[in-house]
Amino acid sequence: MRKGINAKIAGTGSFAPSKVFTNYDLEKMVDTSDDWIVSRTGIRERRIVEDGTVSSDLSLEACRIALEEAELEPDQIDLIILGTVTPDYLLPSTACILQDKLKAKNAAVMDLVAACSGFVYGLSVATAFIATGQHKNALVIGVETLSKITDWDDRNTCVLFGDGAGAAVVSATTEEKGIMATSLSGDGSLANLLHIPVGGGKVPLTKENFDLRQHYVAMQGNEVFKSAVRAMESSAKGIIQQVGLSSDEIDLLIPHQANIRIIEALAKRMKLPMDKVYVNIDRYGNTSAASVPIALDEARKTGVIKEGSNTVLVAFGAGFTWGSAVIRW
Ligand code: UT7
Repeated sequence: MRKGINAKIAGTGSFAPSKVFTNYDLEKMVDTSDDWIVSRTGIRERRIVEDGTVSSDLSLEACRIALEEAELEPDQIDLIILGTVTPDYLLPSTACILQDKLKAKNAAVMDLVAACSGFVYGLSVATAFIATGQHKNALVIGVETLSKITDWDDRNTCVLFGDGAGAAVVSATTEEKGIMATSLSGDGSLANLLHIPVGGGKVPLTKENFDLRQHYVAMQGNEVFKSAVRAMESSAKGIIQQVGLSSDEIDLLIPHQANIRIIEALAKRMKLPMDKVYVNIDRYGNTSAASVPIALDEARKTGVIKEGSNTVLVAFGAGFTWGSAVIRW
């Protein structure tokens, strides 16, 4: 075990809206088919919020479950880090809104914008804060209501995304288990491959660009695909080496759920059989920052993650951002 390890995951929770949107529903909206979506992405259905439901609502449900498992009251949380690209408001942060809904009145609060890597980035930041002694019990959340920034007329993107939230309580520990290492990376030179072209300071929203639907997510899927495989391979292999584990000693890989073909290519490059790779993209689609923590929570609650085992989390997203973590349970 790496010396100085001092943060562990004390509880996890996840929540997805009850409304299921299948590929057959999408067939009625754009020129696509269940066959194309399943074979090119692995997605069969996704969850979509009702009008009026926002990211802090989904976060609240996931956090309550995580806190219950950690046996902590909200006022024992001293840090909330919320990864999202679909905040309730531009100002203030969704972490602030969540803090109030949760009554976690003793927490420092911040949003973290790292797209699909948001949870892994948040986990890394929380681990570092705990290592300094500044905070003891953090809530790290990955949440998205991507349905609100999806162009439902664009078949290139609308078949991919879903809504959901996942949360983890990260606590200081003296045990010889927990978050062994985290690693973060980025490459802003490729930002235009996956972005929302208008609505920020650079190109403010106007009636013209609104009518051109430029306020929705735009992606050059093929290029993003190649970068995702390369970056996640390099990050996951690097962190495994850093903690001194071999590929055989990895019991479970939890990759960001963007495309089953990306996940399979990554597993192959890491020489991991698919039964050591957690996949739930068929049920949720790509939920961006929520994808890794939802999968993590499911893997723990269904007994896929066992005491003493080693799990690697790895994510990649817009920015580009990517990162990984190794956890011993
Ligand atoms: O979460 C952050 C990271 N995101 C990702 O990692 C996503 C990475 N990219 C991908 O997962 C894939 O690139 C996509 C799933 C987005 C697209 O798959 P692809 O195999 O790269 O397809 P493509 O974009 O090269 O398109 C192939 C064909 C095109 O038709 P033509 O030009 O060959 O006639 C598309 O117009 O498939 C067409 N197409 C569709 N057809 C039916 C694109 N979307 C659809 C669709 N239904 N929904």
